[in-house]
Amino acid sequence: MPDDVPTGAPLVETGVPLLEARGLVKHYRSGGLPLGGRRRATVKAVDGVDLTLRRGSTLGLVGESGCGKSTLTRLLMALDRPTSGTVLVEGRDLLALPSAELRRRRRDIQLVMQDPYTSLDPRMTALEIVREPLDIHRDLMPKKERASWAHELLHMVGLDPGHAHRHPHQFSGGQRQRLGIARALALRPKILVCDEPVSALDVSVQAQVINLFKELQREFGLSYVFIAHDLAVVRHVADEVAVMYLGRIVEHGDRDTVYSRPAHPYTRALLSAVPDPDPRGRGATGRIVLQGDPPSPTRPPTGCAFHTRCWKSEEICVDQQPVPTPESAVGRRQVSCHFPEN
Ligand SMILES: Nc1ncnc2c1ncn2[C@@H]1O[C@H](COP(=O)(O)OP(=O)(O)OP(=O)(O)O)[C@@H](O)[C@H]1O
Ligand SMILES: [Mg+2]
Repeated sequence: MPDDVPTGAPLVETGVPLLEARGLVKHYRSGGLPLGGRRRATVKAVDGVDLTLRRGSTLGLVGESGCGKSTLTRLLMALDRPTSGTVLVEGRDLLALPSAELRRRRRDIQLVMQDPYTSLDPRMTALEIVREPLDIHRDLMPKKERASWAHELLHMVGLDPGHAHRHPHQFSGGQRQRLGIARALALRPKILVCDEPVSALDVSVQAQVINLFKELQREFGLSYVFIAHDLAVVRHVADEVAVMYLGRIVEHGDRDTVYSRPAHPYTRALLSAVPDPDPRGRGATGRIVLQGDPPSPTRPPTGCAFHTRCWKSEEICVDQQPVPTPESAVGRRQVSCHFPEN
């Protein structure tokens, strides 16, 4: 044990970096132009991301469709290789690990997707679905214990273990998402990456599934990367929020700071569309309607990528990409903007 860990420290030490992105870049070669002969375009899906997920906490990731959220999660899970940059898990470079160690580390990070219906095999029973990861990673648990662990998981996510022999289509949408969560938990991961996990559900069911995520986090000390386009949902679950625009994080900070005093114009615009529970708060500033769609990630604007839609844009925004401010003294927050609020 390192010298600086006091004896009697809790087993799950919250707040220490668990998963880190350092200068992550992912550029895709797109299909190119018809009739050939022209250079193929490069899609700058993720374009220089630094992020930290702290142990036992939830990092919310928000941004419009196509800004690179899912690409970033694939990089964090080592399902895809970055063009450049590194992913550190507990301080170790994920992609530099020997393959056996990488396999073990991959078990620690599991994915919960938006619509489990398309990802769950319709021919399998609930029990088989939850048990399958253990049958693949055979060394983790003796065969005779797997079924009882799968039953336990079904119970933990609020499904009736008596329904273990049902097939996915015999469950409701919310129940299928619970099944997806049970499967993701089968290998006892430390991190769940949740990519729009409640977007396909009715609002009342969303609240139940969000509560389940919170209960599981408390019980198992789990850490979450939680992606949602709905900022009201993220407000319920996240400790920290990162706002992404065209492959970059434009603002990142603790939830209350970002929600109550957004500093980046883009964050302000996104939040202005969310109903404000506090009438004295931001709602008074009125709705900001962004003009147009985000630019194409094959040709991101020069300077600050948001300048083409920003009402504060000046010459420097066209010319120079803003660097993240140092973490502010009030709250924990970084913003990449030449003219931030506050
Ligand atoms: N395999 C790929 N090849 C080429 N381009 C890709 C690939 N995967 C993603 N992209 C492009 O990268 C950009 C970011 O996509 P990504 O799926 O990460 O966005 P997203 O933020 O998850 O969007 P959504 O909210 O719609 O899920 C998009 O322009 C997308 O078309
Ligand atoms: Mg996505």
